[in-house]
Amino acid sequence: MPRVLVCYYSKTGNTKKMAQLIARAAEESGVEVELMRAKDVKGKDFAKFDGIIIGSPTYFGVMAAEVKDLLDRSIACYGKLMGRAGGAFTSSGNLAGGNETTIMSILQALLIHGMVVQGDHQGSHYGPVAVGEPDKRAEEECLRYGERFAELAKKLMA
Ligand SMILES: Cc1cc2nc3c(=O)[nH]c(=O)nc-3n(C[C@H](O)[C@H](O)[C@H](O)COP(=O)(O)O)c2cc1C
Repeated sequence: MPRVLVCYYSKTGNTKKMAQLIARAAEESGVEVELMRAKDVKGKDFAKFDGIIIGSPTYFGVMAAEVKDLLDRSIACYGKLMGRAGGAFTSSGNLAGGNETTIMSILQALLIHGMVVQGDHQGSHYGPVAVGEPDKRAEEECLRYGERFAELAKKLMA
């Protein structure tokens, strides 16, 4: 069974709620999930997972420093993550407050690791986005994303 890490930084709880929904849906879709705060993840831990999903609040249109710190520490796994599944999500204060650029800033690092990122032709194309606390739309996006990510991780592992 693939192992998936869902890790996040969240100051006021919005990104954390998204992480919990994504983790639950992925688990229900048949992967083993570990839900962790970014600061508790060691850089070398990434290599233990078949899929990694990272969530951050939108801070000035990019990821928060704690998430960047984790990605910088993930250099410990450089060359070991090729072909594994990667994904990202965010909560921003405003509708067009830089949420897509935040997701892309995380995905950029995962792509540099050689990870495989799946987009979506519906809804949030790059990964789930909530504006503030996740509303019904954002909750559904997170659940759908967790399910889809689990399927991707299973396919890549097969
Ligand atoms: C330092 C800082 C920078 C922020 N920058 C942005 C921003 O550029 N665009 C935006 O829409 N919201 C911005 N916000 C708002 C947060 O993204 C938003 O409140 C988010 O829901 C917080 O997520 P959390 O509850 O997981 O901490 C910022 C908040 C802080 C504290």
